[in-house]
Amino acid sequence: MSPLSLAFLVILALTTTVQSHNITKILAKHPEFSTFNHYLTITHLANEINRRQTITVCAVDNAAMSDLLAKGLPIQTIKNVLSLHVFADYFGSKKLHQVTKGSTSTATMYQATGEAPGTAGYVHITDVKGGKVRFTPEDNPSQTDTTYVKSILEMPYNISVIQISAILNSPEAEAPTAAPDLNLTSLLQREGCQAFYDLLTTSGAIGTFLSSADGGVTVFCPTDDAITKFAPKYKNLTASEKTSLLLYHGVPVYNSMGMLRSSNGMMNTLATEGAKKKYDFDVQNDGNDVTLKTKVVTATISGTVVDDEPIAIYTIDKVLQPRELFKGAVVEADEPAAAPAPAKKKKKPAKKGAAADEDAAAPGPDGDGDYSDDETADSTNGGGRLVAPLMVMVACFSWLIFA
Ligand SMILES: *[C@@H]1O[C@H](CO)[C@@H](O)[C@H](O)[C@H]1NC(C)=O
Ligand SMILES: *[C@@H]1O[C@H](CO)[C@@H](O)[C@H](O)[C@H]1NC(C)=O
Ligand SMILES: *[C@@H]1O[C@H](CO)[C@@H](O)[C@H](O)[C@H]1NC(C)=O
Ligand SMILES: *[C@@H]1O[C@H](CO)[C@@H](O)[C@H](O)[C@H]1NC(C)=O
Repeated sequence: MSPLSLAFLVILALTTTVQSHNITKILAKHPEFSTFNHYLTITHLANEINRRQTITVCAVDNAAMSDLLAKGLPIQTIKNVLSLHVFADYFGSKKLHQVTKGSTSTATMYQATGEAPGTAGYVHITDVKGGKVRFTPEDNPSQTDTTYVKSILEMPYNISVIQISAILNSPEAEAPTAAPDLNLTSLLQREGCQAFYDLLTTSGAIGTFLSSADGGVTVFCPTDDAITKFAPKYKNLTASEKTSLLLYHGVPVYNSMGMLRSSNGMMNTLATEGAKKKYDFDVQNDGNDVTLKTKVVTATISGTVVDDEPIAIYTIDKVLQPRELFKGAVVEADEPAAAPAPAKKKKKPAKKGAAADEDAAAPGPDGDGDYSDDETADSTNGGGRLVAPLMVMVACFSWLIFA
């Protein structure tokens, strides 16, 4: 399991403990909803649903989905339509049949996207006579024949998955939208990333970024200014070191700003190659700031270029220097206040000095208090690795409540 980074473990911790539901898995047991399920995945709505704590998903069967698909809408529009089928509240069978005064209005995920004009992101639920429950999009009052069919799964009050008889037709949701730009090449050329983009193309590292874009990617672009300052060090690297350095600025998973703000812990990068070359860094939050700590430098996210699943691009104020490439520079260059390395080695037996230099291997030097900053950082980090999933869980939990 060594190639799996801590970032991965953190994600596992998230999915097994905080994320108590997986809509893809729930629907996979019911082949009559396979088309609906497939579209939840390709529109990335499934991830949104899994992230929410209190939610109702109104599934439609494959026949109803083919009616929707027959309209030939672009995928972004299908996403809007399907997001109208996800309510930001919990409606189990019982609650549906007991709506206050026989009728209520609920906000949907379409409303939450901010793309729904007026009240188009709301759905009206009516408990009609004879035990029927009717669903009517707020912007299409003439749709009165779409009703509750059955409950597929109820996990009160986290997620309710129900079947409704047909697609909710909303003129606003079906209106043409500008497709989001998912072309990483052109996104990287936007304001803020140009110098970094140039390095990616001249080195050829861009290929690795592009090939991971479909599955989700987060890119941390050092600002043009940061790249200029770093140029002398960059020139000294070999071609393969340059590539590793650039890949170190990409994470093969989409991370929204909200996700970064609510998670602390180690993150794998596109440069990671198993346990020996970890090329990972530590994401930490300081108030509203998100910092990336590499043990050599600490960079801060300074802006968002794009944050639209599956692609996120942020600017950072410094070039991230991985320990794997800049180990020697740590004590001398960036931490002048620390005791010089040779003095440290003289004091301690050679063996111990060497061990202390490895990741959190030594429990701590012999009480002379002569830690270098480097060692302190190491041991704190070792502890951080163990508690990180826990912290992430707690942070995510509170984030989900507020989201
Ligand atoms: C949800 O379940 C599907 C199918 O079982 C699986 O492929 C996917 O990885 C799961 N997603 C998460 C976030 O666990
Ligand atoms: C709902 O989610 C909470 C928090 O994740 C969890 O403790 C609880 O067991 C879940 N309820 C059900 C019915 O799964
Ligand atoms: C992506 O954008 C680049 C530059 O803007 C362009 O050359 C390329 O053709 C685009 N690729 C696709 C698939 O549209
Ligand atoms: C680049 O390498 C040369 C030769 O090894 C060295 O003298 C110089 O200090 C290095 N420059 C930087 C910025 O690391």
